[in-house]
Amino acid sequence: MSLRSTIKKHVALPWPLLYIYRKVYYAPKDIPAALGFIFSGTKSPTTFGQRLALVGKFYKISYYVDCPHTEHEMISITRQILDLAQRCRRDCRGGSFHGGSTTKLSLVAALCDRQLEVFDSFAGMPENAESHGKSIYGREHHFPKGSHAVPFEEVKGNVARYAMHRDRIFIKDSQ
Ligand SMILES: C[S@@+](CC[C@H](N)C(=O)[O-])C[C@H]1O[C@@H](n2cnc3c(N)ncnc32)[C@H](O)[C@@H]1O
Repeated sequence: MSLRSTIKKHVALPWPLLYIYRKVYYAPKDIPAALGFIFSGTKSPTTFGQRLALVGKFYKISYYVDCPHTEHEMISITRQILDLAQRCRRDCRGGSFHGGSTTKLSLVAALCDRQLEVFDSFAGMPENAESHGKSIYGREHHFPKGSHAVPFEEVKGNVARYAMHRDRIFIKDSQ
């Protein structure tokens, strides 16, 4: 067992420390992605201040809502959305979990005047036999049936709390 997973198994870190651990662990990828995004333009026009504020909000949302995606992953998605042709008016995503990425993408949608549609069964993962490699703690990633199920009301609550553009988000039960 690696040092990271031994620590994770035996030491129950309080959330603020776990958050700092995650951010430090991913800093070598997150910080260049964030700086690259902040200091370069996008096809849908955004200002330096808007990009800086967006990255700041991503970090804040990750603190308050459990977000499985890293900041550099979200920044990469953000850049692709902001570089889409202006005629695309809607972004869709499947799977909200707690609503962290949904909240972040709602801010991106607002920046380029789009709407965001989110689909989830709110029943968690279906039966599957996929391999997902290892987590940052050195353990195998498992997505057993029913895991990642978060009730609709909780997702809506998180979005209501942290998204500044709730009128642009449509969350749908896809079951
Ligand atoms: C691993 S989480 C996704 C996390 C998400 N990408 C994020 O950034 O927070 C998987 C989510 O997809 C949903 N889901 C999985 N399979 C689904 C399916 N076949 N139809 C609808 N929702 C599904 C689950 O309920 C869960 O909310």
